[in-house]
Amino acid sequence: MLSDYAIEIEDIVKKFGNFTAVNGVSLGIKGGEIFGLLGPNGAGKSTTINMLLGLLAPTAGRIHINGVDMLREPEKAKGQIGIVTQETVVEPDLTAEDNLMIFGRLYQIPENELQKGIEFALELSDLKGFRKSYAGTFSGGMKRRLETAKALMHAPKILLLDEPTTGLDVQNRSQIWELLRKINKEQGVTILMTTQYLEEADQLCNRIGIIDHGKLIALGTPAELRQKIGMSTVLEVEAERESLPKVEQIFRKLGMEPKISGNKVIAPAGAKPVERVEKVLQLLSAGRIDVHNVNMHEPTIDDVFLKLTGSAVRDQTGDYQGGRQGMMMGRGR
Ligand SMILES: Nc1ncnc2c1ncn2[C@@H]1O[C@H](COP(=O)(O)OP(=O)(O)OP(=O)(O)O)[C@@H](O)[C@H]1O
Ligand SMILES: [Mg+2]
Repeated sequence: MLSDYAIEIEDIVKKFGNFTAVNGVSLGIKGGEIFGLLGPNGAGKSTTINMLLGLLAPTAGRIHINGVDMLREPEKAKGQIGIVTQETVVEPDLTAEDNLMIFGRLYQIPENELQKGIEFALELSDLKGFRKSYAGTFSGGMKRRLETAKALMHAPKILLLDEPTTGLDVQNRSQIWELLRKINKEQGVTILMTTQYLEEADQLCNRIGIIDHGKLIALGTPAELRQKIGMSTVLEVEAERESLPKVEQIFRKLGMEPKISGNKVIAPAGAKPVERVEKVLQLLSAGRIDVHNVNMHEPTIDDVFLKLTGSAVRDQTGDYQGGRQGMMMGRGR
C-alpha cells in the first residue's frame, strides 16, 4: 500500500491478557511533523510506541512506516526509523565516541561511512568536546543527546522517542528541545515522541494527540485543541482542601462549571472574565473563605486535558502538574 503518511496507524489494539492497554488508536503522521503523544502514566504511550518499533505485535490493526507494512516487512519498516527508548541505553564504561562506534557496527553502517556518522552524531549532539569522555560521567541530558544522535547514525527519516525528557532538569530539557528542532528542520526528520509534559507538547510539537486509557481522546495543533473545546479564559481558585467544595459552590452559583484538581477549583470564566472574578472575590469574602491564590489565564493544554478527561495529567510521583503553575518548565526549577 502506498501511503501519504510517514507513519500510518490504523485501529491498533494491544491486549495483555484481559487488559486492553491500547484500544483502537488510528493516527496519520505526515512527513516533517513533530508529533507529540501526550498522556498520563499508564495511558498506553509506550505500548503504542513499542508496536511502532516492531517490539510488540499488535493484537489487531495495521501499521505502515513510509508505506511499508510493519507486520509484513518488519525489517524493512524498522530500517526506516531511529529509536530512543524510555530507558537510557548508553554504555557508561565506553567513551562517547566508542558508544557511537559500537552502535554503528550493530547497525552495520559500512566502515568507510562509520567515521563520518560518528562525527555527524558528535556534532549534532554538541558533544564534540566530550568524545573521549566516558558516558558514565555525563549528565542525564548529555546521555539523552548522545542517544538521540546515535539513533540518527543510520540516517533514518523518522525518529521515535519515548519520553525523551522525563526526569531531566529544565536546562537539559530545553537542550533536548533544541536538538529535536534542529534534527527536524535541518535533517528533515519526522519526529513522533511521547511526553507527560504539557508545556513540552505545547511548545515543541506541531500536533498533539492526547491518549488516555488506551484511547486517543483529542487530536490537533495546540491552538486547535484549545479552540475545539471552546474554552475562554480560565479562572482558578487555590484553597485548603476542606474549603474547595465551598469554592465550587460559588462557581456554580455564578453559572460556571467547575472541576476540582489538586487544591484548586478551575472553570472557564465565560465571556466577561473580569466581572466573573469580581463576583467570585465578593462571594469568597462574604463567605469568609480563606484562599491562597486566585488567577486567570489563557487555557493551557492541561485545561484541555482536564476538561476532556476530568483528571489532571500527573507526573511520575503522582503530583499534580496543574495549569501553568505546576508545569516544570514554567517554574524555572
Ligand atoms: N507487558 C505488559 N503486561 C501487562 N500489562 C502491561 C504490559 N505493558 C504495559 N502494561 C499495562 O498497559 C498500560 C499502558 O502501559 P504503557 O507502558 O503503555 O503506559 P505509558 O503511557 O507509557 O505510561 P508511562 O508514562 O508510565 O510510561 C498500563 O496499565 C500498564 O500497566
Ligand atoms: Mg511509557
